[in-house]
Amino acid sequence: MPEVRVDEVRRFMEDSLRAVGAPESEAVAHAALLLHADVTGHFSHGLNRLEFYINDISSGLTDANAKPVILKESAATAWVDGANALGATVGNFCMDVAIRKAKECGIGWVVAKRSNHFGMAGWWALKAQLEGLIGLTFTNSSPILVPTRAKKGTLGTNPIAMFAPATGGDYIGVDMASTTVAMGKIEVQIHKKEPLPEGWAMGTDGKVTTDAQEAFKAGRLLPLGGLESTGGYKGYGLSAIGEVFCSGLSGSNCTHRVPKWSFTRQGDPMDLGQCYAAIDPNCFAPGFGERIADCLRTWRNLEPVDPELPVLAPGDKERINAEQTTKRGSIIYSESQIESCDTMARKIGIKPLKVV
Ligand SMILES: NC(=O)c1ccc[n+]([C@@H]2O[C@H](COP(=O)([O-])OP(=O)(O)OC[C@H]3O[C@@H](n4cnc5c(N)ncnc54)[C@H](O)[C@@H]3O)[C@@H](O)[C@H]2O)c1
Repeated sequence: MPEVRVDEVRRFMEDSLRAVGAPESEAVAHAALLLHADVTGHFSHGLNRLEFYINDISSGLTDANAKPVILKESAATAWVDGANALGATVGNFCMDVAIRKAKECGIGWVVAKRSNHFGMAGWWALKAQLEGLIGLTFTNSSPILVPTRAKKGTLGTNPIAMFAPATGGDYIGVDMASTTVAMGKIEVQIHKKEPLPEGWAMGTDGKVTTDAQEAFKAGRLLPLGGLESTGGYKGYGLSAIGEVFCSGLSGSNCTHRVPKWSFTRQGDPMDLGQCYAAIDPNCFAPGFGERIADCLRTWRNLEPVDPELPVLAPGDKERINAEQTTKRGSIIYSESQIESCDTMARKIGIKPLKVV
């Protein structure tokens, strides 16, 4: 499998974004978001997604030079117009406002309309956690989650992220789609030429499928939990919570009106809704960091069923992946991922990725 140095992946991402007109600061910010995904092992949301953003900018669907503005605010809240800027531009703007408000009055709750895809929801919640705050993020997305008992994708993979700090620099990092997996994981299975596990997706006939191509074509993901018999309606419920905080509060498109995202898309901007919150635990019972550290210690020290597979806390997998990537200094991609990047590099006239 081809390996690419981490700095070279960053160079390629930044060059690509600059080549289609993103200003330096936003190319750097958006590349950092995508690189974090590959470094932490979420290959669905890194290089795999780059061409989508490149198409959105070059076809005028996203305005990489736009600046978000606050439309209305109180001490603890802000309603933001994302101005159709890049997801990372809106994410940095909104989470910075939420963090400032949480430091001033204990909580900052910020919602944005007219945003674009902001990658890993956890990247934004992590920003608050690094400031000693609890970070929460939600976004709506394209309509591909099939509500329980329905046939058609209507809600989104609407991810939920919550990062909470513990003493000693430790943290809980929950970051998950409200579908069994994110759509990008189906694309990764296609790149790897592997079938899907049962319970990820439906085919065009409305039946559960393990064929990655068929699932991609149908664009119908099962909610977290799968079918009704295995509690899939709870994933449907989680997606609905995201919808309330995102489109409900911001006035953006509801998910069923969001256009389908692809790297050849034309038409209207996505007008996504997003929600960014920060909470200062110091406003509540003393000893928050110690209690979270105690939970983490207890969970990780549980006796595992398989001694080869230790019990993890939410966020551990990504932290372990990041440590391994940093130690190796390179990221391992599939052959077809590198080929797609080469084709895109030729199209936009930048230096291709240098494989080690
Ligand atoms: N922007 C969007 O529209 C959008 C939509 C969907 C997903 N996403 C992003 O895609 C990424 C992947 O989402 P996903 O749901 O497919 O990821 P996933 O299924 O890998 O779940 C990730 C979460 O589960 C935790 N986890 C994994 N294994 C664990 C274990 N053994 N024990 C305890 N916790 C464990 C991880 O630490 C993390 O919190 C996320 O970053 C998400 O925000 C973005």
